Amino acid sequence: MKPSTMRGLVESKKFLFFGGKGGVGKTTMASATASWLADQGYRTLIVATDPTVSLSAIYEQDIGETDLTVINRQENLCGVNINPKKAMGVFQGRMNDMMEGFSTLFGSELLSTPCTEEIAAFDQFVSYMGDTEHDKVVFDTAPTGHTLRELSMPFDWSGYISNQIESRKELSEVLGFIYDENMINDLRAEKERYDQAVRALSDQTTSAFSLVLLPEKLPVDETERAVEDLGTFGIKVPSIIINEVIPREVLQGNWFLERRRATQDKYLAIIEEKFSEMIRREVPLFDTDIYGVDSLRKVGKVLYG
Ligand SMILES: Nc1ncnc2c1ncn2[C@@H]1O[C@H](COP(=O)(O)OP(=O)(O)O)[C@@H](O)[C@H]1O
Ligand SMILES: [Mg+2]
Repeated sequence: MKPSTMRGLVESKKFLFFGGKGGVGKTTMASATASWLADQGYRTLIVATDPTVSLSAIYEQDIGETDLTVINRQENLCGVNINPKKAMGVFQGRMNDMMEGFSTLFGSELLSTPCTEEIAAFDQFVSYMGDTEHDKVVFDTAPTGHTLRELSMPFDWSGYISNQIESRKELSEVLGFIYDENMINDLRAEKERYDQAVRALSDQTTSAFSLVLLPEKLPVDETERAVEDLGTFGIKVPSIIINEVIPREVLQGNWFLERRRATQDKYLAIIEEKFSEMIRREVPLFDTDIYGVDSLRKVGKVLYG
């Protein structure tokens, strides 16, 4: 049965992804979720990929870039903060090695990967989708359709080229000098890794995506596009979190806040209509920023309490 609450959703899936534009509250929602799950007794791992706002700041302790760090202030919780700059080196290195043969023939331009930090970080966090040590793995960034498409590009090219080589004997004789069994096998393994990740992401029995947005025009439009785009990869988005909704009790006749809230109301109505099929959860704008386990627990209560 399809879960009808955020709580039902996160309790029934292992891999939880939080997506959305920069600054909307992905890291906050992911860490609040991780803390809440850990409090419920689930062995939980949170994987962050943000280069600037790190988990270290949120949990107020140093968190490793490759090794899992036990969070001191909370039982059942570990974290890792992937460094996208380093991840990029690893990914690019692997791709370059594989592509060397092809690029001598076709030029490096054709096969160069449009490798942004986001892509490289995704490539690294894929490895945590094989996790068997934890009950829950929370990712503070969900891949976008754009990322998935860019990631698949070298495979499209290389697949095309190796098909050409394999299917056309005369070409294979001409191209014989680059036809390297190992290279083709590496490429196949890499492609399989990518396919497996996309399959895992779209497997609704284990993975759940939540998109975080603010009740404003641009995030609403972007979220709609993101849902559509992920859909082309077979990835469904079962829930959205509408963050920073101004609480009614603070309005008290203040015209500025009233206007701001009226604007939010307009978009809340649009959100309800556009995303009527999804689980929708509102999180109020808090009177401070959110870090530290105590604040996270407050957010967790709003989301799952
Ligand atoms: N509901 C909220 N009320 C108050 N501050 C919030 C709320 N949600 C997020 N914030 C703050 O907004 C900033 C951006 O949130 P963050 O989770 O880092 O966004 P993202 O990961 O999407 O870039 C942080 O300083 C965070 O503490
Ligand atoms: Mg973040």
